[in-house]
Amino acid sequence: MRVLGIETSCDETGIALWDDAAGLLAHRLHSQTAIHAEYGGVVPELASRDHIRRTAPLIEQVLADAGLGYGDLDGVAATAGPGLLGALLVGLSTGKALAFARDLPFIGVHHLEAHLLAPALEERPPAFPFVALLVSGGHTLLAEVAGVGRYRLLGQSLDDAAGEAFDKTAKLLGLGYPGGPAVAAAAAGGDPAAFDLPRPMVDKPNLDFSFSGLKTAVLNRSKEPGAADAAFVADLCASFQEAVVATLWRKSARALRETGLNRLVVAGGVGANARLREHFASGAAELGAALHFPRPAFCTDNGAMVAHAGALRLAAGERDGWDRSAVARWPLDELRPPG
Ligand code: KG4
Ligand code: ZN
Repeated sequence: MRVLGIETSCDETGIALWDDAAGLLAHRLHSQTAIHAEYGGVVPELASRDHIRRTAPLIEQVLADAGLGYGDLDGVAATAGPGLLGALLVGLSTGKALAFARDLPFIGVHHLEAHLLAPALEERPPAFPFVALLVSGGHTLLAEVAGVGRYRLLGQSLDDAAGEAFDKTAKLLGLGYPGGPAVAAAAAGGDPAAFDLPRPMVDKPNLDFSFSGLKTAVLNRSKEPGAADAAFVADLCASFQEAVVATLWRKSARALRETGLNRLVVAGGVGANARLREHFASGAAELGAALHFPRPAFCTDNGAMVAHAGALRLAAGERDGWDRSAVARWPLDELRPPG
């Protein structure tokens, strides 16, 4: 089954073609960072307008890349939520219109399900069951994944998401948007032990996260004399990144222990962070646990994960009607197995 996937939940237009026998046929991404950079964050109305400009031409390009036409499609999938409503509606409406015109089955995809199944886009996909750490701009959560659509929430952030903490720290230090890559780049020459920043909730016997205290600690440090020096900023970024990564690892290791599972999947934009990947790799090796990441480009938002997750559900016979709408909020554990 050949499925066209459309992702427009935030500030990237992602389009891809997934074939459940042959794998990924083509994918393209248009990032809006240049549009939002001057505002220091995503402006929803500008995001929607740019998705309108980009979606149809990008679909044509992806089909051309694969040497295919609309007649070669067996289904269409588009992100239906959670995300920015206006942005979601662009991809969802385009997907539904295309499916309606070509008489194809359509499915609205859960953005976080697409993220946490993304390691299956790579060689040696993880077998079920596994523990998933989902770290994106809007969500930080740990889930026990027994199969597609079988998600048990183990813990989540009580305030800021990990990506949001990176974004806010970048803004605070004047490093620009998007914040994650900017903080990671600034941290490259810094000393991760230079500042003793809090590692929130690591000693609490649960699997929840909290990053707002860490953000406040960075804010206080950023007011110290010499805080504008490049070396100070590098040290502060490296220490902040280390605190986030160490906290995420401690909770992930606890989730493995508590579930008795020995497979960990990390997905979502913060999973692209090089220091996180390094820290998790050595931690997992120590525990003897298998570790799965999508490649960095499939950690951040993309069309491939949407085409893939949509194909899994379409192939099982699941379909959405033309009245399917976008949803800003959609808890992951409301999902059910395909079919
Ligand atoms: O999954 P994603 O692309 O979009 C959402 O669904 O939210 O995640 C975006 C988040 C942003 O907060 C961004 O700053 C963060 O992921 N991010 C990173 C890195 N690349 C993206 N954070 C840390 N290090 C990175 N290299
Ligand atoms: Zn995402």
